[in-house]
Amino acid sequence: MIDFHSHFLPNMDDGSKSIEESLQMLKLSYNMGIDTIVSTSHYIAGFESIEDFINRRNERLESLTQEHESSGGIPGIVAGAEVAFYSGMGGDDKLSRLCVGNTKYLLVEMPYYRWSSLTGREILSLMLSQGITPVIAHIERYFVYRQNEKMIRELLDLGAVAQINAESLIGNMQREKMLKLIRERKTVLLGSDCHNMDGRRPNLDRAFKVIKKRAGGACLDIIERFGREILEQRDD
Ligand SMILES: [Fe+2]
Repeated sequence: MIDFHSHFLPNMDDGSKSIEESLQMLKLSYNMGIDTIVSTSHYIAGFESIEDFINRRNERLESLTQEHESSGGIPGIVAGAEVAFYSGMGGDDKLSRLCVGNTKYLLVEMPYYRWSSLTGREILSLMLSQGITPVIAHIERYFVYRQNEKMIRELLDLGAVAQINAESLIGNMQREKMLKLIRERKTVLLGSDCHNMDGRRPNLDRAFKVIKKRAGGACLDIIERFGREILEQRDD
């Protein structure tokens, strides 16, 4: 299975604080059946350039790869980013460099306030002018406002992709809403959004169980297949 959202890179953002912790997170993921994990460290425009972020990410990836060569048993790593929404992102032609692996799928963290039509238009412009498919990170967090929920549904209808965090399926609060979304759309992506080995550790195995039990194994297979197809797409 694939984990599409994680912060395991050491000292990159508010995620893992050491190579040791990163390796523990990766091993735990692997042991629960994750064979591919997308590294989605936070990218905040204005804080650093895309170029600096990529250099920093490559350094951390390299240090981790060197360290794990002897330890084995970790998932394959695909480089990506969790890009915080910003005004003007729709026209930022460097953004495709932060897409997941070689694809045109970009994980976007949306604002936590009530969205305006401009918010939707920015995401739309990512799709229309840059051919990027926005993947809305932890989509369950934006359902607080009716207006946002309505806009999410419109964006999904237009081709954006929902990413759901495991915790929303494990806990009671949003489980029913997320299961409904999964049953309706099926083409969603799942992520642990793991940050450490304490309160936010890899936990996708528990979400898989919930989906299997409540939406069926076939549904989980579709999600898995959808994720694989995305990762196989290349931006050539
Ligand atoms: Fe995240």
